[in-house]
Amino acid sequence: MSGAGHFSEEKPSNARTWVRQIHRWLSIAFTVTVVVTSVALAQEQPVVWVSYVPLLPLALLLLTGLYLFVLPYVTQWRNGRRSVVAPE
Ligand code: HEM
Repeated sequence: MSGAGHFSEEKPSNARTWVRQIHRWLSIAFTVTVVVTSVALAQEQPVVWVSYVPLLPLALLLLTGLYLFVLPYVTQWRNGRRSVVAPE
């Protein structure tokens, strides 16, 4: 399937790919819940409990997002690299 297949036992790229996909789909779910919340609160009699619904996908986004954020640094640290990678 993917062309370049060389050994790299230190890269947890599978976990990373999974978490990235989950983060991506959670972002869609989160956006939908925010839109639904806006509609629910705009009613004459606002459905207030709906405004708590986005907190669940947001919490999961935070966890998966922090994982994605920290992972490159952990990988670098594990590999014993001391050079600083300039973020773009
Ligand atoms: C709550 C705290 C969040 C943290 C800490 C976080 C962190 C991150 C990190 C570190 C990345 C990877 C960036 C990279 O290395 O290229 C990422 C990607 C991304 N984030 Fe978040 N994020 C958060 C919330 C959100 C929210 C609220 C949304 C949208 C509703 C969002 C949408 C995305 C998308 C679409 C990507 C690209 C995913 C991909 O490349 O497939 N994130 N985020």
